[in-house]
Amino acid sequence: MRTKLIAGNWKSYKTLAETEQFFAAFENLRSELSSCTAEIALMVPFPYLVSAEAASKKIGFLSGAQNCSAFGMGAYTGEVSAAMLSSIGINICIVGHSERRTIFNETNETLRSKVSELLSNNITPVFCVGESLEQRTNEEQFIFIASQLNEGLFHLDAASFSKLIIAYEPIWAIGTGLNATPEQANEMHQYIRNLISKKYSPEIANQCRILYGGSMKPSNCKELLSMNEIDGGLIGGASLDADSFFQIIKSIN
Ligand code: PGA
Repeated sequence: MRTKLIAGNWKSYKTLAETEQFFAAFENLRSELSSCTAEIALMVPFPYLVSAEAASKKIGFLSGAQNCSAFGMGAYTGEVSAAMLSSIGINICIVGHSERRTIFNETNETLRSKVSELLSNNITPVFCVGESLEQRTNEEQFIFIASQLNEGLFHLDAASFSKLIIAYEPIWAIGTGLNATPEQANEMHQYIRNLISKKYSPEIANQCRILYGGSMKPSNCKELLSMNEIDGGLIGGASLDADSFFQIIKSIN
C-alpha cells in the first residue's frame, strides 16, 4: 500500500502575515488532523520556509520548497541550494513544475542536476511531468511524458529512483479549473508506472508514488483520489485557502 500524499503548492502567493494565518487555522484543526492517514506537505515560497518549517512540524506536515538551485553552495547569486534547504529542515521539494519549464526555460538537463542535489541532501524530489493541450489534442501525451521521464529521471540508479515522487500535471489542467477526468489521470499514471516497471522493476514501480495535479479542488478530489493509480495530489489554487485544503485532506479518510 502506498501512503497518499496531499501537497499544497503555493506558487508566488501570500504575504508573511497570510502565511501565519494559514498555519494558525491548521493549528486549531490539529486534533482532526491526527486521524488523517495521508502525509501532508506544504510547498511555500522561500522567504517563509523557516517559519513554515516550525509551524509544519507542530501540526505534522512535511516542509516543502518549490524549487532549488541546480548547483551546490557557491558563487551563484540569487540561488537557493538544496544544502541550504536541508539545513533548515526541508523534507520535500518540487522539481520541474511546468511553470519553471516554460517561463524559466528549465530543461531536463537542468532538472537532472536539481534532482541530484536534492537526493544528495536527503530531500525528496517531486518531479513534475505533463503535456500541453496541443500535445493532448494531437495524441502525443504518452510519447511526451515518456521523453520527460527518459531525459529527466531514468538516468538514476534504482536506489536513487526509489526515493522520489512523480507528479503528473497536464499543463491544460493547471490553474484552468478544467481537471483531467479521473480516468484520464489514472490512465496516464498507469502508463508511467509501466514505464518505471520496464526501466527498473515491478517492485519499484509498485512502490513509486505518482500524484495528480491540475485544478484539484474539494469538489473533484474524492473522485480523483479514489483511483487506484493516483497516490495523492499536488494542489495549487485550492491549497491557498485553509478550509479548502483541509477539505481535500479530509476526503482521503
Ligand atoms: P492548480 O495548480 O491546482 O491551481 O491547478 C497545480 C499546480 O500547479 O501544481
